[in-house]
Amino acid sequence: MARGLIEPERVPYPRPRADWVRMLVDRRISDRSSVPATQPRPVLYVVACGAPPADQLPSFVGFAQEQGWDVCVIATPYGVKFLDAAALEDLTGHPVRSEYKDPAEPDVLPPADAIVVAPATFNTVNKWAQGISDTLALGLLNEAVGLGLPLAAVPWTNAPLAAHPVFLRSITVLAEWGVRVILDLAQLPPATGGPDAFPWDGLRVELAELRRVLEASLEP
Ligand SMILES: Cc1cc2nc3c(=O)[nH]c(=O)nc-3n(C[C@H](O)[C@H](O)[C@H](O)COP(=O)(O)O)c2cc1C
Repeated sequence: MARGLIEPERVPYPRPRADWVRMLVDRRISDRSSVPATQPRPVLYVVACGAPPADQLPSFVGFAQEQGWDVCVIATPYGVKFLDAAALEDLTGHPVRSEYKDPAEPDVLPPADAIVVAPATFNTVNKWAQGISDTLALGLLNEAVGLGLPLAAVPWTNAPLAAHPVFLRSITVLAEWGVRVILDLAQLPPATGGPDAFPWDGLRVELAELRRVLEASLEP
C-alpha cells in the first residue's frame, strides 16, 4: 500500500434487498421506454463539488460514456462555479442540476444506477457522513446509500483539512457504508496549493468495479 493511502477496511457494497432490486429493475423498464431493450445503458450520476478538479470532468465523462454509461452531472451550488455546465450538458445530453426542483416539476433526469462523487469536498464529505441533505447532491447521495446503490467518492481537499479528525472519521463512515473511497493523503495539495494530482485514473478503475457490482445486484 502506498504511504499515506487511506485504505479503510474494504467492505463489500451492501447487497440490495430483493425488493430493492425488483424496484431498480422496474425503474429501468419504466423510465427508459425510449431506450431499445437490447441496449440498456446504466445511468451514472457524477456529483461535482466546489473544488478545482471539477473543471476536468469532461474527460472523465467521455470515458464513462465510452464504457457504456448514460452520464448525468449533478453539481453542488458551489460546484457549479468550478465547471462548464453548458459544455457538460452538450456532452451528456442532460441538464446539469444543482438545486432541488420545485415540488410540481417533473424529474428531468433518469434515476441513477450508480454514483461517483468527484471531486468530493471536505464540506460535502462531512455532511454526507452525517446524513445532511441541504443540497440536491447530498439528498441524492443520502438516498443512494439507503437504496444500496454502488457509490464511489474521491475526496479532494488540502492536506491540513484532510488531517482534521472529523474528515478522517467521515471517510471511515462512508467506507463502512460501502462507499469506495479513493484517497491518497500523500497526493493532496498543501494549504498553499500545489500541482494537481487528482486521481482520475483510480476513479476510472473503480468505475469498472461499480459496473460489476451493479450487474451482480441485478442478477435474478
Ligand atoms: C478557489 C477555491 C478552491 C477551493 N478548493 C477546494 C478544494 O480543493 N477542496 C475543498 O474541500 N474545498 C475547496 N474550496 C472550498 C469549497 O468550495 C467550499 O468549502 C464550499 O463550501 C464547498 O461546497 P460544496 O461541498 O457544497 O461543494 C475551494 C474554494 C475556492 C474558492
